Amino acid sequence: MNIIIFGPPGAGKGTQSSFLINNFNFFQLSTGDLLRNELKSGSKLASEIEVLMNSGKLVSDDIINNLIEKKLEDKSIENRIIFDGFPRNIDQAKTLDNLLEKHSQSISLVLNLKVDYSILTKRISGRLSCSVCKKTFNEFFDPPTTCEDPNCKSRTLVKRSDDNEDTVSKRLKTYDESTLPILDYYSAKNIVSDVDAMGQIAMVSDQISNIIKDLKS
Ligand code: AP5
Repeated sequence: MNIIIFGPPGAGKGTQSSFLINNFNFFQLSTGDLLRNELKSGSKLASEIEVLMNSGKLVSDDIINNLIEKKLEDKSIENRIIFDGFPRNIDQAKTLDNLLEKHSQSISLVLNLKVDYSILTKRISGRLSCSVCKKTFNEFFDPPTTCEDPNCKSRTLVKRSDDNEDTVSKRLKTYDESTLPILDYYSAKNIVSDVDAMGQIAMVSDQISNIIKDLKS
């Protein structure tokens, strides 16, 4: 089963993807993480991507679709992918359908994380991530001193350069204009399940767990 985890910046897509990886053996395909890896290369393309990300705009569909296409060649992740941060507009959604069809796969479920925008700035400005395993914490809601994952010995927590108030409001505008409309595309296929993502992390995970179990039964 392939799923899309959908919602605005800070809704908890990455956090709940970790839950799905640990409990249901999914593989997370996050375009944001793929782009941040690309930034480390220091190439000319990397600096163009960085400017777009820090201004809250979308990176071009060509770059994104190319990254996804390469990943879909990997047979070991077949039919257990969580698409996180992708698709982000109608063209990307249609490209994804075509690419999956080419590999005899499809999307079974879109988890729509519903949150009031008023809490997103606090969630995002408080976010810290482990520099090694990428686990996320929050200065306000889930304060860490070091990465507490027993399998990760890292002591370094980092902040994303696009996690500031100014960029967050631009990211939300981009989400409203380009990304939110694709919910209609998936609703027409009858595969969207709403999740109340306002509660505590474990409460959100419980809802997601029930949805997945229902689908598998
Ligand atoms: P991307 O990396 O995808 O960021 P995003 O979509 O803006 O989402 P975030 O990662 O900010 O939030 P999240 O929902 O994963 O929240 P998290 O779980 O971390 O994209 C970044 C940029 O890359 C884009 O702006 C764009 O430029 C570019 N890009 C990426 N994909 C692209 C594409 N397909 N096309 C074009 N451009 C693309 O949680 C946030 C914080 O809240 C954490 O601290 C967490 O601990 C906390 N938290 C989570 N859940 C809860 C809860 N229930 N209660 C309290 N705290 C919580």
